[in-house]
Amino acid sequence: MTASPTADPIDSPTPPRNGDTMTVRGGQPVEGSIHVRGSKNAMPKAMVAALLTTEPCHLTNISSITDIAVVDELISIAGGTVERDADSVRITAHTFNTLGEADVMRLHTASRIPVLTTAVSLHRTGHAVVAAPGGCSIGPRPVDFHLLVLRAFGARDEHHDDVIELHADRLRGARIELPFPSVGATEQFLFASALAEGDSELSNAAIEPEILDLVCVLQKMGAIISVEPNRTIRVTGVGELGGFEHRVIGDRLEAASWASLALATGGNITVHGVQQQELSTFLNVYRRAGGDFTIDADGNTLSFRRARRMLRPLALETDVHPGFMTDWQSPFVTALTQADGVSVIHETVYEDRLGYTDALRSLGAQIQVFTECLGPTRCRFGAGNHRHSAVVVGPTKLHGAELVIPDLRAGFSYVIAAAAAEGESLIHGVDLLDRGYSDFRAKLEAVGVEHR
Ligand code: EPU
Repeated sequence: MTASPTADPIDSPTPPRNGDTMTVRGGQPVEGSIHVRGSKNAMPKAMVAALLTTEPCHLTNISSITDIAVVDELISIAGGTVERDADSVRITAHTFNTLGEADVMRLHTASRIPVLTTAVSLHRTGHAVVAAPGGCSIGPRPVDFHLLVLRAFGARDEHHDDVIELHADRLRGARIELPFPSVGATEQFLFASALAEGDSELSNAAIEPEILDLVCVLQKMGAIISVEPNRTIRVTGVGELGGFEHRVIGDRLEAASWASLALATGGNITVHGVQQQELSTFLNVYRRAGGDFTIDADGNTLSFRRARRMLRPLALETDVHPGFMTDWQSPFVTALTQADGVSVIHETVYEDRLGYTDALRSLGAQIQVFTECLGPTRCRFGAGNHRHSAVVVGPTKLHGAELVIPDLRAGFSYVIAAAAAEGESLIHGVDLLDRGYSDFRAKLEAVGVEHR
């Protein structure tokens, strides 16, 4: 049977397809060491920041994932230059051209990043074009929080069939409260406020480490930004920003994915290149579930393994930082299929991020999905008909199956399930993993997952 669950509506650029197939033989010991590079959710934002200045900007610890190729293209279309070597990129944007409708429509189906250039485009040309939500095949991609932010800075928006056009003569400082601590809308605020006239304040802001990394980049460029208690960010606009050199933080999402593979298979994986403090919530949950880890003195090499033969079930609720990340959820829940008892999962960040559990069931997992909030928080999705809670009964013996990857994190979960299963699994659409896991096949090899 081929399981083809609902795609993650936010970060899946292409529908499932049958090309790029991989066979994984499960049930083998998983052991080895990998190196993760710059964070998928921090690198592109730092590259967008480089468009706020005409001076050269230099980023290191850059990995070769497809999302970065999309940003390279976006910068070239806007009139900037991107020079790359093995792990760094130099960006110069002497000029900036507003993206046209055709480019916006094409790039937006490949990545969430184009919308983040809106404030930059308004600063540099007074005009911007954004893809309208629902304008592509992968489900709704709301931009209402982004518009809320931009309108507060004085931008005017005009809605057409596929795109929204924005205009502003000069962005002016604003006080805004977000309905939800959205990562993207907080980044939009930072890009808008850094060069806006006067002071700005954002409350209920997202404070993920990837955002703090962007704040560091903007500060190097000359911005005045303070991140204060209670999710408040204050910015004093400056007249111009300059170039910067920056090493992007390591990818804590990728690190947690490989750690979950070690947990699910009873293996042992060492991850280099991330910081302990950015994984702190994940590490506590990992230990509670029966995983263990050692961390080197610098806190950037972590070795993950199972501490006990049988994992412990637990109740898990995803949340914005410093909570348990939504992007850690699917790989970790896949490991919980091997826990001895009942685990309860409540996804509170995205309404539709449990579709992958259909596929896990086809490998033998016992998982049921519910529309109710099965967790301490009454989240925004409880009132709708959103399948956003799950009950996982373990331990279950998994067996090989045929799977179609719908999106990035679900895709890694399928690889985990296939590696933990007896027999062979045939996985289609593996190239989607290149969006967030650089050198994916080489890393699988490095940790001994048998595949071809
Ligand atoms: N939302 C709205 N309206 C908006 C914007 C967001 O309703 O205008 C909602 C979303 O639908 C979602 C919630 O707010 O329910 C949070 O979305 P957020 O804006 O925080 O997400 P994002 O900026 O689009 C980034 C990452 C995601 C990650 C989330 C949460 C990038 C490119 N993507 O998305 O990464 O899950 O923050 O941490 O930075 C992934 O790496 O697999 C991935 C999906």
